[in-house]
Amino acid sequence: MKAIGTALCAAGIVAALLAFFWKDPFDPERLSGARVLLTGASAGIGEQMAYHYSRFGAEIVLTARREAVLQKVAKKCQTLGAKKIFYIPADMSSPSEPERVVRFAVQNLGGLDYLVLNHIGGTRFQMWDGDVEYTRRLMQVNFFSYVALATAALHTLEKSNGSLVVVSSLTGRIPTPFTTSYSATKFALDGFFGSLRHELTMQKRKVSVTLCILGLIDTDTALENTRGKVYLTASPAPEAALAIVRGGAVRVQELFYPWWLQHVCRLWVLFPSNRDQVLQSYYNYSGP
Ligand SMILES: NC(=O)c1ccc[n+]([C@@H]2O[C@H](COP(=O)([O-])OP(=O)(O)OC[C@H]3O[C@@H](n4cnc5c(N)ncnc54)[C@H](OP(=O)(O)O)[C@@H]3O)[C@@H](O)[C@H]2O)c1
Repeated sequence: MKAIGTALCAAGIVAALLAFFWKDPFDPERLSGARVLLTGASAGIGEQMAYHYSRFGAEIVLTARREAVLQKVAKKCQTLGAKKIFYIPADMSSPSEPERVVRFAVQNLGGLDYLVLNHIGGTRFQMWDGDVEYTRRLMQVNFFSYVALATAALHTLEKSNGSLVVVSSLTGRIPTPFTTSYSATKFALDGFFGSLRHELTMQKRKVSVTLCILGLIDTDTALENTRGKVYLTASPAPEAALAIVRGGAVRVQELFYPWWLQHVCRLWVLFPSNRDQVLQSYYNYSGP
């Protein structure tokens, strides 16, 4: 009994010391005046990131396809404290758009500190129906345009010791039902940007690459897509957005939101035998 008491007391002291000495590595000041190009900024997590960057006093270029919506988001960013705010409508299914968007951002902001890649094309949450053309289109929007945007921005990011922030998904680490094409685009991001991170380090080029692995988030499109099809609780978009902004600012290699997803990924690797059955039990399929 005495030994348990001593152990608990020691654990309490260690916890108190850790709490006392632990310093949050995130310094909001670093985002004041930071030059940010943010894609998929008209809705969902991207819109929420735009508001967070604004509150921190960043200089921002927003992009997505819908001009009227971008205009509304930009107005709100201004009221929240963005030092500078611009927007450029662009459709990332067109291969020439990434370069044009980066050029616009560099011209208006005078360089870039953060490139935040977040947009996605319309996602079908359903069984594979054999539509190869759809997969090709989604690859263009969700993957090739990310590669092209990063390539166009790399030189200017290097000049500022800047950061590439890539928004991905648990589905880009663990294949899940109803997401064949989407999952493929996210796995591709993991491979490309993971390899690029190695190469930048080996070449001593000071551009950080943060890959963000998100679970289900309560954006309108995600909720609409998954309604009645999953037994999962969605996490709040503003919180997810803040986690991404902070992760990029402290230059972590991988950001998991919610945080416990990192343990899900570890367990997935450690227990290969029954994992598929467990995972499938979270999905509702009543077909043949
Ligand atoms: N929500 C989730 O549950 C969840 C989970 C894991 C990962 N994620 C990741 O988080 C990121 C944001 O997801 P979200 O749920 O916030 O998405 P969302 O609400 O559907 O927003 C998508 C954004 O992309 C833009 N967009 C769509 N098609 C485009 C195109 N062809 N060219 C340029 N922009 C385009 C949309 O604006 P316009 O329509 O104006 O173009 C919008 O701003 C994505 O990378 C997603 O994979 C989300």
